[in-house]
Amino acid sequence: MNNIFPTDKILQRADKEQLLEQKGIAIWFTGLSGSGKTTIAIALEKELLAKGLLTQILDGDNIRTGINNNLGFSDVDRIENIRRIAEITKLFVNCGVITICCFVSPTEEIRTIAKNIIGKADFVEIFVNISLEVCEKRDVKGLYAKARKGEIKDFTGITAPFEAPINPEIELTDALSLEQSVKKILDKIKL
Ligand code: ADX
Repeated sequence: MNNIFPTDKILQRADKEQLLEQKGIAIWFTGLSGSGKTTIAIALEKELLAKGLLTQILDGDNIRTGINNNLGFSDVDRIENIRRIAEITKLFVNCGVITICCFVSPTEEIRTIAKNIIGKADFVEIFVNISLEVCEKRDVKGLYAKARKGEIKDFTGITAPFEAPINPEIELTDALSLEQSVKKILDKIKL
């Protein structure tokens, strides 16, 4: 880019990680709306706090209320949504923070964009694999009913695609309780 001079004379990640006595990482939840990404993230964050670890949750509905409130759900906007989120995530990870990201992130392309921006070594993908039938039955936010009535367009699972991740590090299903899901994550990721 012309006339732009990013500085590299700032404190390094290792300095921050030493201060916090932890490693930065992005824990990336993907799954349908209503699959439980945020609920699991909140329970996970509580466990990590109890262990003395610093975390930050980034969540679709919250981010879309603030920094990304100019974006909708077209393919182009979803990509821009995730691009910005991945850049924000990278900043947190570089500060040594365990960053817990809860985004539908519905396609392989979108998740690859996130992984490439954040860096493969710092990216753990968790697929919250709950079927459309179950999410629709739960319909916690009432959005599936609206989507079926045609009141929301491009709704993931109904009128927009969701591609299951090919090789997630962790897969969670509704056969696991909330506690078991959190344990599975903590057993798998060295924090
Ligand atoms: S993403 O596809 O761009 O990754 P993101 O996670 O930020 O989605 O936002 C998803 C949340 O926005 C859903 O949990 C739901 O509450 C809300 N939402 C509103 N409209 C839609 C839509 N058309 N498709 C999916 N989610 C939607």
